[in-house]
Amino acid sequence: MVCFRLSLGPGSGLLLLGLVLGAVSSYALELNLTDSKKATCLYAKWQMNFTIRYETTSKNYKTVTISDLGNATYSGSTCGDDKNGPKIEVQFGSGFSWTVNFTKEVSTYSIESISFSYDTNDNTTFPDAKEKGNFTVYEHVIFSIPLDDIFRCNSILTLEKSNVAQNYWDVHVQAFVQNGTVSTKEFLCDKDKTSTTVVPITPTTLPSPTTTPTQKEKPEIGTYSVNNSNGTCLLATMGLQLSMTQDKVVSVININPNTTDFAGSCHSQTALLRLNSSNIKYLDFVFAVKNENRFYLKEVNVSMYLVNGSVFSIANNNLSYWDAPLGSSYMCNKEQTVSVSGAFQINTFDLRVQPFNVIEGKYSTAQECSLDDDTILIPIIVGAGLSGLIVVIVIAYLIGRRKSYAGYQTL
Ligand SMILES: *[C@@H]1O[C@H](CO)[C@@H](O)[C@H](O)[C@H]1NC(C)=O
Ligand SMILES: *[C@@H]1O[C@H](CO)[C@@H](O)[C@H](O)[C@H]1NC(C)=O
Ligand SMILES: *[C@@H]1O[C@H](CO)[C@@H](O)[C@H](O)[C@H]1NC(C)=O
Ligand SMILES: *[C@@H]1O[C@H](CO)[C@@H](O)[C@H](O)[C@H]1NC(C)=O
Ligand SMILES: *[C@@H]1O[C@H](CO)[C@@H](O)[C@H](O)[C@H]1NC(C)=O
Repeated sequence: MVCFRLSLGPGSGLLLLGLVLGAVSSYALELNLTDSKKATCLYAKWQMNFTIRYETTSKNYKTVTISDLGNATYSGSTCGDDKNGPKIEVQFGSGFSWTVNFTKEVSTYSIESISFSYDTNDNTTFPDAKEKGNFTVYEHVIFSIPLDDIFRCNSILTLEKSNVAQNYWDVHVQAFVQNGTVSTKEFLCDKDKTSTTVVPITPTTLPSPTTTPTQKEKPEIGTYSVNNSNGTCLLATMGLQLSMTQDKVVSVININPNTTDFAGSCHSQTALLRLNSSNIKYLDFVFAVKNENRFYLKEVNVSMYLVNGSVFSIANNNLSYWDAPLGSSYMCNKEQTVSVSGAFQINTFDLRVQPFNVIEGKYSTAQECSLDDDTILIPIIVGAGLSGLIVVIVIAYLIGRRKSYAGYQTL
């Protein structure tokens, strides 16, 4: 993948007046886009290469790697306006072009899509290509980054689609740059994060015990979804309450769906739902398939900003919650707890999730949690007990009546 630093001025309806470009090292690309006031709206610096496989006239396949981007130009790159988000367009070599565009949400911005085009009419790069013409691979990405953070990924990110593998590394990108100043706050890609490992829980002075909410009200129910090229691929409806323990102090946070952004991705064996807001850097729910016929919640990763400015991060990829058959959804109306670690729990309310096989944007039949089953069972048991009692009373009454009637007859 690509590392960009993109940012857009406060008025996103600005026209791009200045475009400052400069290649730092031979193949590192760098772009500093400015708006009409000459303020930086987007900054990006990254490296990339592409491996393309194509069929030859002799029915063989050849691969070619495009890594020399020394002569790149950036025409078409723009800060965006009210209707269109910012975008980076790069042209290089003989007929290659590469475009990435960005969108803005409430408190985040996203890398929305990446597309790469190549022209097999170029006989030097694609000798004996069977099909001559211009080909484009398009990838809908939706990768969210907190507003005013610069995305950084030194690790290699790879996108593979059709016959093209795209590698990106040393990526720094910030779109929607605030006040013309590229941020110093980095938002790392997962691969860079794992190389620095999870931040340990640092003792902090959190809300004093007197302000510790004990009986917090029920969180509002939010609906979250993830789309891919086939439409909605993941659905989740739930009220979420996060409970963190630090220094024996429990803080409880209800997630407000109105101010929470969501994104994610769907694959055949895994699916990701990522929530973020001004105080939640990210809250990831990772679903997986097991035994080829069931799904479950396998992993939760969270990173939150605490009141004192420190960061609380926890990850657990060995969970087993919300288990249901593929092709159905999992439902639990009762409050349920996902225990991510001793210090971090998520309480869910009116939960319904379907991370795989969503058809036409709707939930499939639900498999209910055992808690909900209990709530159905109890009335049944009580009901059965009551009706049993009624039968006994009725029988007793009838017997008694018959006896007295019989007795009356004999008189
Ligand atoms: C393309 O980039 C990857 C990742 O940095 C690197 O491993 C590979 O050697 C590069 N290929 C070429 C031909 O430069
Ligand atoms: C991003 O680019 C793709 C294709 O290049 C286009 O279909 C899509 O509408 C663009 N999105 C935005 C928000 O401009
Ligand atoms: C941008 O400038 C405005 C006004 O000067 C200020 O209120 C705001 O906090 C600044 N934003 C950032 C991200 O620096
Ligand atoms: C879209 O649906 C088709 C047919 O079900 C499937 O083959 C393809 O892999 C799906 N694409 C994505 C991105 O899920
Ligand atoms: C969220 O938005 C809805 C509709 O605008 C509103 O009724 C509700 O009170 C809001 N919830 C919170 C927690 O702000």
